[in-house]
Parts: sequence; C-alpha cells; structure tokens
Amino acid sequence: GNKNINAKLVLLGDVGAGKSSLVLRFVKGQFIEFQESTIGAAFFSQTVALNEATVKFEIWDTAGQERYHSLAPMYYRGAAAAIIVYDITNQTSFDRAKKWVQELQAQGNPNMVMALAGNKSDMLDARQVAAEEAQSYARENSLFFMETSAKTANNVNDLFYEIAKRLPLM
Ligand code: GTP
Ligand code: MG
Repeated sequence: GNKNINAKLVLLGDVGAGKSSLVLRFVKGQFIEFQESTIGAAFFSQTVALNEATVKFEIWDTAGQERYHSLAPMYYRGAAAAIIVYDITNQTSFDRAKKWVQELQAQGNPNMVMALAGNKSDMLDARQVAAEEAQSYARENSLFFMETSAKTANNVNDLFYEIAKRLPLM
C-alpha cells in the first residue's frame, strides 16, 4: 500500500486488566509477569501494514486506578480507536468495561472504532466472564470483540490488525 495513516488509539479499563501488557506485547513482543501499575498514562507507537495502507498507531495506555479517571478524556478525545480491556477472570473488570463503553458513547468521537478485549484468555480455569456474554454485549453496542492473552500473545496482533482494517482509510 502507498498510503500512510496516523491513528490515535487509547486503551481504557480496570486496574490490572492487562492494558499495559497488551501494548508491551504488541509493540515489543514481550510479557512481564510483574508489570507495574501505570501512573497517569504512557505513550507508544507501532505500525500495522494493510494491503491498502500502513497504519501508524499512536497509543495511549491509560492508568486504570480510579484517581486517574478524570484524565481519561484527554486521551480518548480525538481518538480514532479505543480498546476497552477487561480481565476474563474478574467480573468487576467487565462491569467497569461497560462503564467505559457508556462514557465513550456519551463523550467520545462518534466515529471511533471501539474494540472490547477480554484479556487473560490463558487463565481459563479462573474464568468469570463467559465469552458468549461479552460477545452479545459487544454486538448490542457495535463493538468489535476478541479474547486475548498478553501472556501467550494469542489474538494480540489480530486485535490491532482488525482495528486498523476498520479505520476509515481516507
Ligand atoms: P493499570 O496500569 O494498573 O491500569 O493495569 P493494566 O491494565 O495496565 O494491567 P497490567 O498490564 O499491568 O497487568 C496486570 C497484571 O496482569 C500483571 O501482573 C500482568 O503480568 C498480568 N497479565 C496481563 N495480561 C495477562 C494475560 O494475558 N495473562 C496472564 N496470565 N496475566 C496477564
Ligand atoms: Mg497499565
């Protein structure tokens, strides 16, 4: 492809859901067992090559701790895409993800490509959120849904690739 597109992407979700781990896996191909909780937000970039274009993601990895909630609009305003992350072993994190979806639907860019990522899919024995439940929630809310594992890398590149494909490639 000959087009180069820059796309601002924000990750939102509960503390410990695995936002930073997904970004670290996607950007550096690494996983850290004792990943530190994010303070404020962190910035990364990575490109995805499609047939028709190269998409450079400008990624804002936000902090899930509640005291940083008021910063979130700075990161999702003007974003072309958002990944809302929950942990499949933690029902509270799924409830929190739904709150983020509501906030984005009310305050975010209406054309934003939104993905719901059920992370830690390697921890099946501890599952609390059924994939079918998340899938139907995603369908009702026009989100793209995937279960991912930052640990094993399952579906991580695919998640970013599917988002890139859904961007308007002007
Ligand atoms: P905050 O920055 O506090 O909002 O958290 P976060 O969403 O960035 O979570 P983080 O990436 O720091 O991951 C939290 C913990 O979960 C870390 O100990 C990670 O190693 C672990 N973790 C993240 N993703 C996975 C995964 O896919 N599988 C497993 N087993 N553990 C994971
Ligand atoms: Mg983090």
